Amino acid sequence: MVSVDLVIRGGTVVTSGGMFRANVAVKDGKIYAFTAVSEVLPADKVIDAEGLYVLPGVIDEHVHCRDPGLTHKEDFKTCTEAAAAGGVTTIFDMPNNIPPIKDVEALRMKIQEAERKAIVDYGLYGLLTVGSLPHVMPLVENGVIGFKMFMGPTTGNIPPPSDGEMLDLFSVIAKTGLRIAIHAEAQSIIDYLISKLRSEGRKDPRAHLESRPAIVEEEAIRRVSLYARETSAKIHIVHVASARALDAIKDAKSMGVNITAETCPHYLLLDDSYYEKLGIIIKVNPAIKSKNDQAALWDAINNGLIDTLGTDHAPHTPDEKFKDDVFEAAAGFPGLETFVPLMLTQVNAGRLSLTRFVQLTSENPAKAFGIWPQKGSLFIGSDADFTIVDLKATTKIRADKFHSKAKWSPFDGWEVKGIPVYTIVRGNIVMDHGEIITTKPIGKHIKYSDYVSIL
Ligand code: NCD
Ligand code: ZN
Repeated sequence: MVSVDLVIRGGTVVTSGGMFRANVAVKDGKIYAFTAVSEVLPADKVIDAEGLYVLPGVIDEHVHCRDPGLTHKEDFKTCTEAAAAGGVTTIFDMPNNIPPIKDVEALRMKIQEAERKAIVDYGLYGLLTVGSLPHVMPLVENGVIGFKMFMGPTTGNIPPPSDGEMLDLFSVIAKTGLRIAIHAEAQSIIDYLISKLRSEGRKDPRAHLESRPAIVEEEAIRRVSLYARETSAKIHIVHVASARALDAIKDAKSMGVNITAETCPHYLLLDDSYYEKLGIIIKVNPAIKSKNDQAALWDAINNGLIDTLGTDHAPHTPDEKFKDDVFEAAAGFPGLETFVPLMLTQVNAGRLSLTRFVQLTSENPAKAFGIWPQKGSLFIGSDADFTIVDLKATTKIRADKFHSKAKWSPFDGWEVKGIPVYTIVRGNIVMDHGEIITTKPIGKHIKYSDYVSIL
């Protein structure tokens, strides 16, 4: 009888289409076979998954690892350890580090750092900014997973391309098949509102929300949707935070725009009452909005208007984050280690199904960025990436135990039910019951060009 590298025995396998009990056999980093629970293939290693759920590895398409250049906040080691601890097997890293990933030279520097440090798989975004046009094809040829464009002010203060430039960039990228992830907030409205609020002496946490009302999301999404329709570019709206943003996405989808959308756990679990309850720690772009916005986002993750869940893992030092003036404080917070437990708690509460969770965190991100079914599926021959979870286990979130350099969180102290107990990347067990057990940087660079023939 054939011998395999790993058998995950007796768990409930969860696919985007449903669940079944089976053993999963892994050979050479790929899914080799499913067998009846009573039939265990001879294996070098067996994981007892009795009572556990075996999910396709969680893909977080929105992570800021800060490496190189901002490694006082995070680096590829701490970032990917946070991912592994949190049950995430693949991350897509954002390009707003230093130097920003706007050309091949910067991309190569980043690849070098990731190769030395990453313990989960990683895709890397190229940046679209002023002057990006000549850099698009070289970045594609060097393996970026997609592009990122910041339309509004962000960490790193990266200027958006002009509207004309966006049209040109979209036309060129449309031909490559890569998707453009977009931070859709209208810069000029925000700049105007921030200076107005500052001149009134405002610096309280809620002033952040007032500087970024829902219209800034809606206007930017409608604008880029027109450009995407004009050029046939594929776009992905990240961190959708309002009902009005959802209206704009719905209209774009009905116009035939190739648009996908992400929201994040914080928009589903926090609302504007937290500006008073928690203060500046919840500052994030786009801003946390009202309970009505939150309710609309819940509808959208269940009715298909939202395609993916991402963390927007955005670590900062406490000094950068906890300022007296909200406009001086860094935006964002770490999310990799709270993502899966927070969302599984919602699965336990009946707010989304486990199969929907798998679609939002694995199948849909893989499809949107062209790497399905090698990733994001449990087909025979797919990468053996698994997030094995215990849906009954309870714990309390402890930010001081994070692997991220940012050891603080708006969710510190929250009770969760449902936690990842194994993280497996191409057959390598990287996390076992909260412990990081790999000693080697086994993470692999996931290049769009390796999955799809485009060149
Ligand atoms: C992100 C960061 O810190 O890099 N912060 C955030 O609040 N989401 C960047 C961004 O998207 O603005
Ligand atoms: Zn953003």
